[in-house]
Amino acid sequence: MSNDIRFHIPVMSEEVIKGLDIQEGKKYIDATLGGGGHGMEIVKRGGRLLGIDQDREALEFAKQNLKSQISNLKLKDADWKIVQGNFRDIDKIAKENGYDDADGILFDLGVSSHQLDEGERGFSYRFGEKVFDLRMNQKSGVSAKDQLARLGEEEIYEILARYGEEECARAIAHAFTVARRLRPIETTGDVVRIVSEVYKDQKIRFGALSRVFQAFRIVVNDELGSLKDGLSGAEK
Ligand SMILES: C[S@@+](CC[C@H](N)C(=O)[O-])C[C@H]1O[C@@H](n2cnc3c(N)ncnc32)[C@H](O)[C@@H]1O
Repeated sequence: MSNDIRFHIPVMSEEVIKGLDIQEGKKYIDATLGGGGHGMEIVKRGGRLLGIDQDREALEFAKQNLKSQISNLKLKDADWKIVQGNFRDIDKIAKENGYDDADGILFDLGVSSHQLDEGERGFSYRFGEKVFDLRMNQKSGVSAKDQLARLGEEEIYEILARYGEEECARAIAHAFTVARRLRPIETTGDVVRIVSEVYKDQKIRFGALSRVFQAFRIVVNDELGSLKDGLSGAEK
């Protein structure tokens, strides 16, 4: 894991801080802690923080990041804790940690730049022969390569069309099923080669690869199901 302090540059920080209306002593849940960028903004302003992320590497980084910034800023009364979990269980996690009366909750959805830049995680097509995994929590769920081995051509097409809005979804789904008859599709490199057979033009191929990876990432992590559960849990 990289120790780069720029693990993930938090987006729209000002808007997030304004929207949360952080006040000293009040409780906030960052349901997607990532590198802790937004979380630290809460702590700096005297807010009490419960940070949640399903990615163990993210939590390890966030812990070090928060500790070192809190020490540099000499924030003696900083009040924060972090928990590994899926925000789909937010009501349970909040209750267990005394945050069921939280004053604000942040969901900064999607993937972190760390996940994209750490080749071994299999989130990107840029790193050659890495396991096509795509799980944010590597201890739970079914990896992209295992899903790809089980799904029928029509199901693969649906995933690419619905979650990637990929215009060559049908051709790519077909190419996957033809390729896996010869040998299993296991690596990000395999995916790149198969998509490249459909998209010969390199300029447009990268866009297609982003859409293919995004589509499988959404399915592998059940991102829409988690969000639905997370939002209803957050209202409780
Ligand atoms: C865009 S990043 C958040 C970055 C963060 N705001 C920061 O300042 O560094 C999204 C994070 O949410 C996490 N995540 C995505 N879906 C999740 C879920 N269902 N439950 C818990 N964490 C999730 C990812 O692992 C990732 O670390």
